[in-house]
Order: sequence, then C-alpha cells, then structure tokens
Amino acid sequence: MTPDGPGRNLGGVSITVDDIVERCRTAIGEHTPQLAIRDVVAEIVHAPGALAAAIGPITEGGIRPLHRSPELTVLHIAWTPGMQLNPHDHGMFAVVGMYGGQEDNSYYRRAPRGLEATGGRSLVAGDVLVLGQDAIHAVANPKREYAVAIHVYGGDFFDAQRSEWDDETSEERPRDIEGTMRRFAAANAAWAAQQDRS
Ligand SMILES: [Fe+2]
Repeated sequence: MTPDGPGRNLGGVSITVDDIVERCRTAIGEHTPQLAIRDVVAEIVHAPGALAAAIGPITEGGIRPLHRSPELTVLHIAWTPGMQLNPHDHGMFAVVGMYGGQEDNSYYRRAPRGLEATGGRSLVAGDVLVLGQDAIHAVANPKREYAVAIHVYGGDFFDAQRSEWDDETSEERPRDIEGTMRRFAAANAAWAAQQDRS
C-alpha cells in the first residue's frame, strides 16, 4: 500500500463513506438543511486526500449513489476527461464538493426561447458549490483527469420532476437520466480510445 493508499489515516484525518452519509443525514434534518449540508460538504472536501481514500480509485466516469431517500441523495460523481453535460435542473437544492480535477459550471435561466446564459464558475479541489432549487446548469470537465466530487441533493435525485435542455436547440424536455448514462458511456469510450493511442 502506498503512503496515501486506502484506509490510511492521513495526518489524523480519516473518513468513511458511512461517515459522509451519516453526517448528511443529520444535516438534512436541521432547521436550514441547505446551509447545514453546505457546511458538512465543505468540511469533508477540506481534507481531499482522506475523501479520495474513502472513495477509492477512479477507473471510469460515472454516478455512484452513496445514499438515496425521499429527502436526501448523496452521490459520488466522476466526470470523464472531456465530458460535457447539457443544461439541466434538479428541482431541489444541490451542493457539490470537489476533491480533485476541475468542473466548469455554466449557469442559465429560462428565456422566451430556450435558455439565457447567466455566467459560470470553475470548481477545483476544496471548492463547494451550492445550487438553489431552481438553478439550471451545464457541466464540463476541461482537463485530462477525472473531475471528482460529492454531490448532495435535498430530495430523491432519481425520482424528481426535472428538465433538461438540448445542447444545440436549447429546447426543454423532461430529464432523461438514461441519456445522461449514455453520455458517460460515450465519454468513457472516447477517453479509453485516447489512452490507447497515447
Ligand atoms: Fe447538475
């Protein structure tokens, strides 16, 4: 095992996936759950090495559910190098805590014809992003490494009424989670092919 390998106590800071979920479950019951979750996620990503050890090695991009209930979803998401995800909303608050790589967020609001861009923010390790219930964003990984983060949602991420918007026409349609999974598969295949060539 390397000095930074799984299970090592990094300078007194160690955490498990169960700890992460338990702390989020406590926070979601507080009076201001969005702020409480933000504080928990900020503390967790303050020790990115310990979080990386708890999650383990990343071998491909994807969504790994750590906890799912009607009021709380905790996901580990790894964006594949070069991956882009079209604009979408969540229908609930979301807190993203990065611990490696870079995630570029573009923000939008509804416009008479599709969407209007309203800015963006790049996240790197240690950064925390809070998205309100009505937020619309698109995500891209511009780097040649995985962008890894804990994503915490104030509801059932997989069961909510949500929208997404077409990359090209900005036409609104119901969120297609299977389509998102196909994007991960395509991005993973493209990245693997690039690795084979280099
Ligand atoms: Fe999102």
